[in-house]
Amino acid sequence: MVEEPSATNKGVFSAAVTANKRIGLRYYRLGLEFSMEAAAAFAKAKAGQFAELDLSSTALPKSENIPEELVDAAGRNVLLRRPFSFADVTAKKDKTSVEILYCVVGPGSLRMTTLSAGDTISVIGPLGNGFDVPKEKKLFLLVAGGMGAGPLIYLAKVLTADYPSIEVVAFAGAKSADELPFERRLDQISQELGFAVPEFARYGIKSLVATDDGSAGFGGLVTNCFSQWLGQNKPAGRDTIIFGCGPEAMLKRTAEIAKEKNIDCQVSMERMMACGIGVCQSCAVECRVADSNETVYKLCCEDGPVFESKEVIFSPR
Ligand SMILES: Cc1cc2nc3c(=O)[nH]c(=O)nc-3n(C[C@H](O)[C@H](O)[C@H](O)COP(=O)(O)OP(=O)(O)OC[C@H]3O[C@@H](n4cnc5c(N)ncnc54)[C@H](O)[C@@H]3O)c2cc1C
Ligand code: FES
Repeated sequence: MVEEPSATNKGVFSAAVTANKRIGLRYYRLGLEFSMEAAAAFAKAKAGQFAELDLSSTALPKSENIPEELVDAAGRNVLLRRPFSFADVTAKKDKTSVEILYCVVGPGSLRMTTLSAGDTISVIGPLGNGFDVPKEKKLFLLVAGGMGAGPLIYLAKVLTADYPSIEVVAFAGAKSADELPFERRLDQISQELGFAVPEFARYGIKSLVATDDGSAGFGGLVTNCFSQWLGQNKPAGRDTIIFGCGPEAMLKRTAEIAKEKNIDCQVSMERMMACGIGVCQSCAVECRVADSNETVYKLCCEDGPVFESKEVIFSPR
């Protein structure tokens, strides 16, 4: 049922920064290039896997470029590496390019904004287990919240390249139009044709946008938009699979919808991570034990970050 396992030939590698482009209020797209063994390791990286970036010696932006809400946090040290998943991976001859879609939320991601072409950065990866693509499914539904769009954009590319006969529909949500993590503008005609997000449209994938404040697309939570679409389109549960990435509350609701509709669902979980390689035990995800009332703690970095949604005990919020 399941395709190739996630890449396991991880290592500590040096990456060359090729680009770092601001794409909205708080989002950037960071381009990294790997050579030699690193290129071979990252060439096999699956959508949903991640890397740990060392930002400890990356400079802070000038004080006038630090958002007010991050002024206090900005000076905190970033000795621990920070985890980021891949929004794109492209293997060429002996080089592999990786793109990371990131949101500026604290001292590490703030430092990332000062990286520029020609810099080098230490990266551990590829880590964790990515999305598994069951070959028997015909309809793939991608549900993204905020920065959760990154790994689903890469998954969209893989799905359309490797499984040309399947159908994929993406749902992307954010608080407002300004908070959508997409590079190109949403144009009216594409939205009317059902291809709202250019990053998905470039792979021929239909997409819908939802914003909490109604400033673009569906007015309301992306899970409400998704639920409405399911109600209107009524896909056959056995032929369909859902992949979710975003805030835990969104994943929890996505998992509930999947259960109600009897559709398989995989979710990419987030936890604070220290080591990223199963040593520090800081990234526990409570999971159900099959056919039992017991639960067990799995590690987001090693067992995940992608889990079957029916396995996860989501936090109550
Ligand atoms: C497997 C994985 C993949 C990720 N992929 C991406 C990605 O592609 N793009 C992206 O922008 N971010 C991604 N993240 C989140 C990213 O790692 C954090 O935003 C980053 O570590 C923030 O570092 P910081 O120093 O800027 O802020 P910090 O000071 O570390 O955090 C700022 C705020 O965010 C909260 N926070 C930070 N990390 C997490 C977390 N993992 N779970 C819950 N709350 C958290 C903190 O509690 C704090 O309130 C991913 C996280 C994981 C675990
Ligand atoms: S981050 Fe250390 S065990 Fe998962």
